[in-house]
Amino acid sequence: MLTRIKDLATKLAPRLIEIRRHIHSHPELSGQEYQTSAFVSGVLSSNGLHVQEGVGKTGVIGELQGTGNSERLLAIRTDLDALPIIERTGLEFASRSQGIMHACGHDVHTTVGLGTAMVLSQMAEELPGRVRFLFQPAEEIAQGASWMVNDGAMDKVSNILGVHVFPSIPAGSIGVRYGALTAATDELEIIIIGESGHGARPHEAVDAIWIASQVITTLQQAISRTQNPLRPVVLSIGQINGGRAPNVIADKVQLLGTVRSLHPETRANLPNWIEKIVANICYSYGAKYQVNYRQGVPSVQNDYFLTQLMQSAAEEAWGSDRVQVLPEPSLSAEDFSVYLEHAPGSMFRLGVGFKDRLINYPLHHPLFDVDESAIITGVVTMAYTAYKYWHQNC
Ligand code: NI
Repeated sequence: MLTRIKDLATKLAPRLIEIRRHIHSHPELSGQEYQTSAFVSGVLSSNGLHVQEGVGKTGVIGELQGTGNSERLLAIRTDLDALPIIERTGLEFASRSQGIMHACGHDVHTTVGLGTAMVLSQMAEELPGRVRFLFQPAEEIAQGASWMVNDGAMDKVSNILGVHVFPSIPAGSIGVRYGALTAATDELEIIIIGESGHGARPHEAVDAIWIASQVITTLQQAISRTQNPLRPVVLSIGQINGGRAPNVIADKVQLLGTVRSLHPETRANLPNWIEKIVANICYSYGAKYQVNYRQGVPSVQNDYFLTQLMQSAAEEAWGSDRVQVLPEPSLSAEDFSVYLEHAPGSMFRLGVGFKDRLINYPLHHPLFDVDESAIITGVVTMAYTAYKYWHQNC
């Protein structure tokens, strides 16, 4: 069956590269993926899938019915959106939409999703159950997965597979990871309210800027003394707003930041921990405060069985030297985790790095580029994992 999948994928290669280039040159921002989803649904229906448009606002679902009567439903998720970045690759199929670029490889993900659908649709007689392809919008703003789930995308789904490109892994190879793959990502806003006054008479005022600087310094130091060093937490304040003039003491400062963690327990305690530190500092110096902690996406926790299934499928397809078991998670965000709250799943990293280039630019870089041979690696890995999902006695 592996040979058949590889043959089907190889025959599709020129068409898949065409598809990827088309999507790449017509990128759309999160929540505005109208053309991309129309294109995707066209390809899915012409390959005989049952298509549902407008799921999760601008998302698409394609469903493939196998010939057996297995109750199990396998979902395969890819994402459609691009980023507000000015592309500088100079490729002939570079972005034609000013200021928008597929700099996170979602054009490749969509193509891998479509390629897998095309391959599996030609071997539906080998599938005892259903495969549901989710093409989600708005991954970059970490909302599309929730929109899809709210529209029923995960109803009856038993398990889910996902993929993300990775430029530091060479094309032809993939990476799998057991357990945590990405971090829980939350948003933090702290408002410090002091008392304005003359810059020459600080003792008559409550200096919100100075207190805010105490808060930032204490939070960073306290992480190293009060958080378990084996359970990472990263807190970064990325924006400070406050003050009006050099000689006027500021009465209000707003701090905005991101908080990332890997363990659910650690994450659950963070809002209280932050508030206690802010409250104590503000109390000491007579300021008032507000802490707004907004939970974003959870950490992607890959399921053991499905990761093992992916690893063995990829090792059979490519040899074990082309399958890396990743030793470390990343503290980036990925809303694939939202689906995992509804069914166990696993996401693999698809190597897209050029072996002969000194620099493979990182994701979200205006020069980010992929070795397109990775598309076939992705399609075969995904399609064969899906096949094995029903044919392995576990
Ligand atoms: Ni991405």
